[in-house]
Amino acid sequence: MSIDIHDQRLLIVDFGSQYTQLIARRVREVGVYCEIHPYDAPAAFIAEFRPRGVILSGGPETVTNTDTPRIPQAVFDLGVPILGICYGMQAMAEQLGGKVQASDVHEFGHALVEIESDSEFLGMINDGEGGELSVWMSHGDKVVEAPSEFRVTAKTESAPIAAMEWTSRRYFGVQFHPEVTHTQQGSDILKRFARDICGCEGLWTAASIVEDAIAKIRETVGAEKVVLGLSGGVDSSVVAALLSRAIGDQLTCVFVDNGLLRKNEREEVERNFAPTNALSLNLVTVAAEDEFLDKLAGVEDPEAKRKIIGNTFIDVFDREAHRIEGVSWLAQGTIYPDVIESAATQHGKAHVIKSHHNVGGLPKRMHLKLVEPLRELFKDEVRKIGLHLGLPRELVYRHPFPGPGLGVRILGQVSRIQADVLREADAIFLEELKAANLYDTVSQAFAVYLPVKSVGVVGDARRYADVIALRAVETVDFMTARSAHLPYDFIERVANRIINEIQGVSRVVYDVSSKPPATIEWE
Ligand code: XMP
Repeated sequence: MSIDIHDQRLLIVDFGSQYTQLIARRVREVGVYCEIHPYDAPAAFIAEFRPRGVILSGGPETVTNTDTPRIPQAVFDLGVPILGICYGMQAMAEQLGGKVQASDVHEFGHALVEIESDSEFLGMINDGEGGELSVWMSHGDKVVEAPSEFRVTAKTESAPIAAMEWTSRRYFGVQFHPEVTHTQQGSDILKRFARDICGCEGLWTAASIVEDAIAKIRETVGAEKVVLGLSGGVDSSVVAALLSRAIGDQLTCVFVDNGLLRKNEREEVERNFAPTNALSLNLVTVAAEDEFLDKLAGVEDPEAKRKIIGNTFIDVFDREAHRIEGVSWLAQGTIYPDVIESAATQHGKAHVIKSHHNVGGLPKRMHLKLVEPLRELFKDEVRKIGLHLGLPRELVYRHPFPGPGLGVRILGQVSRIQADVLREADAIFLEELKAANLYDTVSQAFAVYLPVKSVGVVGDARRYADVIALRAVETVDFMTARSAHLPYDFIERVANRIINEIQGVSRVVYDVSSKPPATIEWE
């Protein structure tokens, strides 16, 4: 029997840090499976989870108050190595007999720590020499007295106890954030914990994730039929490729052309998922442009447009799925951050509330069983297995495209003529970005249709026509973003092409707003 790749795993106890997911992603990157659970997870759950080690995240609270989160006793009872990061280290110090105080200096950003070369945990940095390490700090409190069993293994100018360890118990604490890329050798530090100290072998690889997912899908759906809404985006494409490997033509993918897609998008999906391309699946394309555009006619409000597009998609998809005989499963591209986020919402702890659940109503309405093969994966892992499954790089690394598509990029009322104009403008922008090798340097780039008449001169005549805005942003998480500093001559070239090649555009502008206060999309 093969080894279960989830067997050697770590538990990440979440105290609410903005970096908790980063910790998990970095641990997975070093080949170790881990899950994030809240600090108040039930003791029985923690015991049954049987991790090989625990990482305590940072968090926004202070342990100098008595009613703030603490490390559950069940974690100590596991008898496995523990690594406390920032708040996690402070809680460990406080609960095991040390002292934590509010610091006069709030340390935020880069800091230099001095690491003892004989530290069991950190001694391997700088090739075993110890010494200075440039790290990322973000804290107000600090440990001023380590519990008696711990020795101090690192200090900074303002935090005399920047790392501590109790070697015989294998308890470690770091005040800085090894999960943040600004921390030098941060990944080595997490690897040291997950692989060497907790003894996990690195079973979590693209190949093993795919193998495991295929086995699970086969076990779950058996010989029954599955339907999947294929959008052409990364997540649904990877689900399609996985299911196709696992169950072949028991799978039917439904691709809905809502009239609000980008140029050539439909053709690309049809090409990428043609049965000849080493995939075996049934692909149904539904040409529903009229249905969507008719329903949108005369509607101005962005949220109303989103609702109409979302509901129409459900109608069309449901209708199409009912044409397939004997379908019992609906596949969805839900990924791990969605799972964590919806768990946090249920617990009333969500910091972030998204209103982008495009097809949220689908499973309920359809009375189908749900299969979600990406539920435990982060986006970067989805991309890795997408490549492993042979999907084109262009598809796997394409920018996100919102469910309502061009519907929220044509301000106000949407018409087919405007959609056609915007499609052309957008295609020119993306084509030029790719030609100039700029596409991968920005996180998202697109054109927006502004229905404001602006004057232009063509030949000797005045012409009043609409405006195209170009938007390109750099962002890590799409929650905050800054406008991309694209070269001026590049923007000018794109603008010239758009104005000259497309009738009905008199002017092109570049959006330099940051998010916040602006958003990435214009609606
Ligand atoms: P905003 O405009 O909120 O966008 O700054 C953040 C990210 O979300 C995408 N977005 C959407 N995605 N349905 C989606 O699937 C939507 O209604 C929607 N609105 C915005 C946006 O493209 C960006 O990546």
